[in-house]
Amino acid sequence: MSMEIKKIGLLTSGGDAPGMNCAIRAIVRTAIHNNIQVFGIKRGFEGLLNGDIEEMQARDVSNIMFRGGTILRTARSSEMRTEEGVEKAAQLCKLLKLDALIIIGGNGSLSGGLDLSKKGVNVIGIPGTIDLDLDCTDYTIGFDTAVNTSLDAVNKIRDTSSSHERCSIVEVMGRGAGFIALWTGLSGGAEEVVIPERELSKEEIIEQILENRAKGKRHNLIVVAEGRGNSQQLAEEIEKDTGISTRATILGHLQRGGSPTALDRVAASIMGYNSIMALLEGKKNRIIIQRDGKYTDIDLEEGLNYHREYNDYLYHVTKVLAI
Ligand code: F6P
Repeated sequence: MSMEIKKIGLLTSGGDAPGMNCAIRAIVRTAIHNNIQVFGIKRGFEGLLNGDIEEMQARDVSNIMFRGGTILRTARSSEMRTEEGVEKAAQLCKLLKLDALIIIGGNGSLSGGLDLSKKGVNVIGIPGTIDLDLDCTDYTIGFDTAVNTSLDAVNKIRDTSSSHERCSIVEVMGRGAGFIALWTGLSGGAEEVVIPERELSKEEIIEQILENRAKGKRHNLIVVAEGRGNSQQLAEEIEKDTGISTRATILGHLQRGGSPTALDRVAASIMGYNSIMALLEGKKNRIIIQRDGKYTDIDLEEGLNYHREYNDYLYHVTKVLAI
């Protein structure tokens, strides 16, 4: 075991995700248990660039497991997208004598981490995003809570949709990825799921609704991923072309909050713990991932460049079960 890690920085960046606090708690406590000092950096890279940094103790992370959001707060830093910003951040990490920087965040945030690693900072990434849109890992912190929040909304919308014999469109988050939509659709018994990964025209959706009506379905539930555009307009067009009363509900940032589910708490705790263990094993520039049911770590650059083909299986099952 290498004993070189004495002081680390920790930040959360990009969109917050339920479970980030569990990861923070796990990192702080595992580090302190191993005599490593942890410096919490506020508001992501913004805090690093502005020196908003404070040492964290074990008691600073008491009673945060059940809270959504991130106690370190977060931001999307435009400065870190510039060469000067990355250089400044790397210099600050050296000035602060950080042996490593742990970043909890999604694609954009971890890409900022990769830039830093190329300037000599040892960066460990932990995938934290409700979107599940990091291809190198089967799990990202926050996904399960977000899906359960969406599902809870779908259950309620289904009640009123069926009473009124309506078509209901529920728009969930996912700018470039349809995972929240696919999971919400399958678990909520949706008739249709519209995601950025697969083509589906308005005409096909309408044809499906009319077919469902002819088969005796009293209501239709369509889950749309945010990345597929204007749900309100789609609702108006469906109503106009089918004559069926249609309503759109946009769930929005509701999905980013809330107390993390057990699954998110466990994943975040293990990923946080593993990030410190990776450092103690002398590893550099890694991303902590879950693959085939196991937690492991891979090279940060390799992880961020990893591309997984879209798999239509969840959509296919949803459609078969919606006959
Ligand atoms: O990346 C997570 C995410 O929730 C996306 O699904 C969504 O498009 C985006 O963040 C919204 O970001 P903001 O908090 O900047 O509105």
